[in-house]
Amino acid sequence: MKSQKQIISIYKQGNSVATPIIFIHGFPYDHLMWENVISILQKTYFCISYDIRGLGGSPCGDGQFTMESFVDDLEEIINELKLDKPVVCGLSMGGYISLRAVERFEEILGGLILCDTKPEADNNEGKLKRAAGIKKINELGVQKFVEDFVSGCFTEESVKNLKEYKETLTRSLKSDPVGVKGCLLAMQGRTDTTPYLEKIKIPTLVICGEEDKLSPPEVMKSMADKIKSSEFVLIPKAAHMTPIENPEAVSKAILSFLKKNFE
Ligand code: MLT
Repeated sequence: MKSQKQIISIYKQGNSVATPIIFIHGFPYDHLMWENVISILQKTYFCISYDIRGLGGSPCGDGQFTMESFVDDLEEIINELKLDKPVVCGLSMGGYISLRAVERFEEILGGLILCDTKPEADNNEGKLKRAAGIKKINELGVQKFVEDFVSGCFTEESVKNLKEYKETLTRSLKSDPVGVKGCLLAMQGRTDTTPYLEKIKIPTLVICGEEDKLSPPEVMKSMADKIKSSEFVLIPKAAHMTPIENPEAVSKAILSFLKKNFE
């Protein structure tokens, strides 16, 4: 099997002998979603980010992705880079990958950070939304889909005034429709990781934007309550895109969690 390292776009910053943290972005974004957080954390930690297959600089191939294949990619990155007990930090779709990774191979992970995500699989309404998204891409193009989707992830204030909102949208508009549709199908077919929450043993931080409508604070708080070793932090002035909308508050929460559990 060809090495994933050669296929997936991986970015490494910071001190390679320090605690490794793998940052996994949301849909339909790329690793740069984490850049403002990584610029702070790399002073102390080894920060690894990558583009999920089909998005950013990673190839789409035939676009036949599953949540399991995304988790396989993560496992291969950990093995290829020989990371010792990395902390996995995933936002939304990155959180789905992280939660399933913990369920599959918690023993090789050191900690978990879940941002603006949820453990439940898509219900019927959610599955139909994914199907409508694919139809929209086929009929109106990926740009129309991305425009509508991305604006719903940010606060109104970010949409009006945050330069990172425009930069993120501009990059996402360049997404390959094959990759975007492949991710929608992978999310549509993912399993429910709720039963595993109470079994999680590694230290866990749950982060949620105060105005997140896709994974709202009450949903995330109830997820955090099911994880014994967890703490929950609400991020002000942010919706679903916490590391972009308020990177200072997200970095502060992550630094305090890492200091408490990994120093
Ligand atoms: C994301 O930000 O990754 C998406 O909102 C996830 C989803 O559509 O379920």
